[in-house]
Amino acid sequence: MRLLLFLTLISLTVAVDKYVHMDLKGAPPRPDYFKKSLDLFSKLGAKGVVIEWEDMFPLTGILSSASHGNAYSKADVIGILDYANRANLTVVPLVQTFGHAEWILKTALFEPLRENENYTNVFCIGNPATKDILSDLLSQVAQLHAAVTPMPFFHIGADEAMIQPGQCPEDVEMMEELGTNDTRILVYHHLRTVSKLIQDEFPETKILAWFDEFKFADAETIRDFELSERVTPVVWKYNADNLEQYLTEEMWGNLSQSFSSAWGGSAFKGANGNAKIDNEIVPYMSNNQQWRIQLDLHSGKFNRSIEAVIVTGWQRYDHFTGLCELLPTSMTALALSMKMLENGNVTSEDASLISSVLSCPNSTTIVNLIAGNDTCKYEGYKARDSIKEIVKYMKNFDDYTWIHNLENGWFGKTAEDRHFSSRYYIESLYNQYKKYLKNANRMKQDIINNFNSIFFSETASEFLFDRVNSFTDKLSKGLEDMSRIIGRRTFPVRPLF
Ligand SMILES: *[C@@H]1O[C@H](CO)[C@@H](O)[C@H](O)[C@H]1NC(C)=O
Ligand SMILES: *[C@@H]1O[C@H](CO)[C@@H](O)[C@H](O)[C@H]1NC(C)=O
Ligand SMILES: *[C@@H]1O[C@H](CO)[C@@H](O)[C@H](O)[C@H]1NC(C)=O
Ligand SMILES: *[C@@H]1O[C@H](CO)[C@@H](O)[C@H](O)[C@H]1NC(C)=O
Ligand SMILES: *[C@@H]1O[C@H](CO)[C@@H](O)[C@H](O)[C@H]1NC(C)=O
Ligand SMILES: *[C@@H]1O[C@H](CO)[C@@H](O)[C@H](O)[C@H]1NC(C)=O
Ligand SMILES: *[C@@H]1O[C@H](CO)[C@@H](O)[C@H](O)[C@H]1NC(C)=O
Ligand SMILES: *[C@@H]1O[C@H](CO)[C@@H](O)[C@H](O)[C@H]1NC(C)=O
Repeated sequence: MRLLLFLTLISLTVAVDKYVHMDLKGAPPRPDYFKKSLDLFSKLGAKGVVIEWEDMFPLTGILSSASHGNAYSKADVIGILDYANRANLTVVPLVQTFGHAEWILKTALFEPLRENENYTNVFCIGNPATKDILSDLLSQVAQLHAAVTPMPFFHIGADEAMIQPGQCPEDVEMMEELGTNDTRILVYHHLRTVSKLIQDEFPETKILAWFDEFKFADAETIRDFELSERVTPVVWKYNADNLEQYLTEEMWGNLSQSFSSAWGGSAFKGANGNAKIDNEIVPYMSNNQQWRIQLDLHSGKFNRSIEAVIVTGWQRYDHFTGLCELLPTSMTALALSMKMLENGNVTSEDASLISSVLSCPNSTTIVNLIAGNDTCKYEGYKARDSIKEIVKYMKNFDDYTWIHNLENGWFGKTAEDRHFSSRYYIESLYNQYKKYLKNANRMKQDIINNFNSIFFSETASEFLFDRVNSFTDKLSKGLEDMSRIIGRRTFPVRPLF
């Protein structure tokens, strides 16, 4: 419905570079699928790609102990970066250097580097050992990137550190040294340290950081720590509506006093519920349309404008959460979101361009694309189809009132547990369960086959384990109990309890 309420946009739209976020902390693509996706990003109008390696980078030394068992090889990374380069994509590495360090801090080896001993998300930033580890990590990532592609930007993350900074003993000590009780000073000191780690070696590289720590800061403190020159804040907000409520005129005004430019952060997937697996396109289009409005309203405040928007695509909310909407289900949302960012709307000419890039049948309309019922055959579409199929099938079961009435009447807790029920009704339910289980098992096999050609095999297993198996387990267990009931000739007299 939101699309019917398109606002009339200010006519002067400012050109903005669009970067697609490749989040590797969940469902990392196999190198071949990675490259084919880069091709699509480029054809859809992306200026570049922001690669959040997380635990998938081929780290050496002590850090390799925190690497994913399926981490890319160095040759894989070189191949991917080189491919991006040839697709004319500017590559921006993203390495979390403050919060969201779960993949490192969860392990026993790095437990001592936690801000709060009980929580795995934030580094103790006053600890010299944290600096050593970050220096090692940043240098490994930056050097490999810079060896293959230009590296005009490096994203150091720095979102969602919450209220933890200032808690570890080393922080308390450092704050004494810095002569402050204000944890923000400690944080800025850290952000400068991290920026310098990169910029001392790569002086031409600009540092990007999520804007969380700059939101309410005064210009003077930011300047004191050289952050105005070193860092460009990335303002992120993924809501579908009313972005101006969160990103106020005053907030933008303050940021533009501190920084000569900013970037934006919108979303095309992974920001609409952390257990959602099938992409609902309209909220993302709407978010990007809202971003177009933000750009038009606030870009002019900055000496050098809001230069780019990262269209983020989260594979998980954080290291510890389950998978959310994956890349194959979200290509149309990406394409439409990019157009929204560009022009504030999507025309039927845009739709035909998108159709041709995403290998859609020539009958595909803008309505199909927005409704998500297109049959476009871009790389990964089979995985998209198998996700959609199982989601639809589980919903079909949930919506089947007749089955649930039978369950409520004849297959409640007592029936299940004491095998005490009326075979006459149980036989009907048994046949339904059997049919659903058979089809669901076939769909699970399709998911395995279609996922395995684009993702490492872990992804299909995790997806089924988290999102599908509770459905098939319920059916299997039900069938077992029902066959016990069906096999029974007689039943005990009441009372049963
Ligand atoms: C990359 O840019 C160059 C120069 O603008 C152009 O000749 C080439 O076709 C582009 N390559 C791709 C894959 O878009
Ligand atoms: C961590 O949790 C334990 C209890 O499990 C508590 O005693 C301790 O104070 C907590 N540490 C911090 C830094 O909050
Ligand atoms: C920090 O707080 C303590 C206790 O409130 C106070 O004694 C001290 O003067 C403060 N230090 C600074 C630098 O503000
Ligand atoms: C903007 O900056 C002023 C002056 O430093 C400050 O008083 C105000 O709270 C800031 N507003 C926001 C939304 O950060
Ligand atoms: C923007 O430009 C003006 C005029 O050159 C300058 O005084 C100001 O410091 C600049 N602002 C920032 C945040 O760089
Ligand atoms: C946006 O596009 C839709 C569909 O193409 C169209 O119905 C609508 O009128 C457009 N809105 C504006 C403000 O251009
Ligand atoms: C659509 O594709 C079919 C089969 O490839 C072709 O016969 C038809 O002319 C195409 N229609 C348009 C409008 O391009
Ligand atoms: C796709 O969705 C649109 C909008 O809900 C609907 O009008 C159209 O009939 C659907 N097409 C198919 C092939 O399901």
